[in-house]
Amino acid sequence: MDKKYSIISNSPAETIAFGKKLAELINVPALILLNGDLGTGKTLITKAAVSALGYQGDVTSPTFNLVQEYQAQVEIIHMDLYRLDRSEELLEIGFEDYLNREAVIFIEWPELALSLIPADFIFINIEKLSDNQREITVRGEGKMSSLLIERLNQEC
Ligand SMILES: Nc1ncnc2c1ncn2[C@@H]1O[C@H](COP(=O)(O)OP(=O)(O)OP(=O)(O)O)[C@@H](O)[C@H]1O
Ligand SMILES: [Mg+2]
Repeated sequence: MDKKYSIISNSPAETIAFGKKLAELINVPALILLNGDLGTGKTLITKAAVSALGYQGDVTSPTFNLVQEYQAQVEIIHMDLYRLDRSEELLEIGFEDYLNREAVIFIEWPELALSLIPADFIFINIEKLSDNQREITVRGEGKMSSLLIERLNQEC
């Protein structure tokens, strides 16, 4: 079985379209890890997905306070762990409680959190191919990602 979905995005608009599709195809709860260098499109995907999930306000990157919460038809949690120094800090922000919520969770820069991540998750890798081109790959472990990958592959 194909456990991977991959597309080339040629513009921010195509990446936004991917984020929207992602929002349409996930089940709740969902844990989505976004991996990729600075400025590859992790926040762009999250913003598009948060809007598609029905949140109408501004979505800003939570770099300084690590976590942002949004209430739409579903509860949405957006974390950006770029400024995290030690994984112990995750316990201070109640990381494990967030994971237990019936929510859609997006985590940018998830490296330091990996030891606390449960076995079922969606892993999105973004690679910059050129100024405007990105390769977006969805992998993961567990039911959550295999269902999503199946649905994404059926769409095209
Ligand atoms: N095909 C593309 N897909 C996504 N972003 C693109 C693409 N082409 C150009 N860009 C630009 O790349 C930038 C992506 O910014 P974004 O804030 O989403 O990155 P990020 O991965 O969240 O970075 P950071 O690690 O700093 O949080 C935007 O300025 C966007 O316009
Ligand atoms: Mg970002």
